[in-house]
Amino acid sequence: MKKLTIALLSGGASSEREVSLKSGDQVYEALDKEKYKVIRYDPKTEINRLVADAPEIDACLIILHGPFGEDGTVQGLLDLLGIPYQGTGVLGSALAMNKIAAKKLYEKAGLPVPPYIAINRDEKIDPEKIADQLGLPLVVKPVQGGSSIGMSIVKSTETLKHAVDIAFEQDNSILIETYIKGIEITGSVIGNEKPEALPVVEIIPGKGHEFFDYEAKYTAGLTQETCPARINEDLTKKAQEYAQAAHSALFCKGYSRTDMILKNNDIYVLETNTIPGMTPTSLLPLAAATAGISFSELLDTLIELSIS
Ligand SMILES: Nc1ncnc2c1ncn2[C@@H]1O[C@H](COP(=O)(O)OP(=O)(O)O)[C@@H](O)[C@H]1O
Ligand SMILES: [Mg+2]
Repeated sequence: MKKLTIALLSGGASSEREVSLKSGDQVYEALDKEKYKVIRYDPKTEINRLVADAPEIDACLIILHGPFGEDGTVQGLLDLLGIPYQGTGVLGSALAMNKIAAKKLYEKAGLPVPPYIAINRDEKIDPEKIADQLGLPLVVKPVQGGSSIGMSIVKSTETLKHAVDIAFEQDNSILIETYIKGIEITGSVIGNEKPEALPVVEIIPGKGHEFFDYEAKYTAGLTQETCPARINEDLTKKAQEYAQAAHSALFCKGYSRTDMILKNNDIYVLETNTIPGMTPTSLLPLAAATAGISFSELLDTLIELSIS
């Protein structure tokens, strides 16, 4: 059989560039070279080469996170070039990248979200009023971000302004939401027509990490990830249904991973990742492995789904 030519995109211009480059290396390693001729591109500097090579590319694996990669822009370019790619298209990528748009669609779909307010750069904030409305602690995050960059947990009204300033370094609009203290879980789905839910992963950030922050996400061994999550069958089913509902509410395709928090018997949806982390030890690959799908098989499936 003729080898498929796969364009592997990693790097890019977002704050998650380093993470993307590392994932790109690992995806490159794992791709079956008997099946694929893999050509790598860094969209930060090599868009022109990608455009020039387009006629010979059979499919693209987008291993980019954050703006200019996960937000629909690269997906739009590939649509124009007629190159199939894994996962969600322009619309769903843009919606999922914007945590306000995503929350509105989750709410419409009946999915619980933490209470929140959205603030633009030019708005003045009244910390006391916000604390009255949302309680304490609060979580402050950029609307379009990822990897917990620019995010803080605020325990007193005095520190809210500082957290807001930090979030505004990443984006022109930010979210302030109620901090939900509970068990952090993430639900992955895979498939084109009726995406199947994979086993739920439980995330336990290590000592000194109040939440799943950048360091906890990317320092080996700092965070304990347990799959399947140690929650009962009913809650597991509910989390899987929420992951599927979030995926379809945001017009996602192929695969996605939805972050949630379980508090008592309630599950709150935080966000949906349309290009989830893609190292062999990342959360979606871990869920796939628990379901008996190796990292290489997962990549094969994503390529098949992109072309079908
Ligand atoms: N409302 C919240 N309550 C409790 N923890 C939260 C909340 N929002 C975010 N977090 C913590 O911050 C992490 C990152 O938030 P998330 O919304 O998933 O954004 P990102 O796109 O940066 O992953 C979560 O995995 C969780 O640990
Ligand atoms: Mg997240």
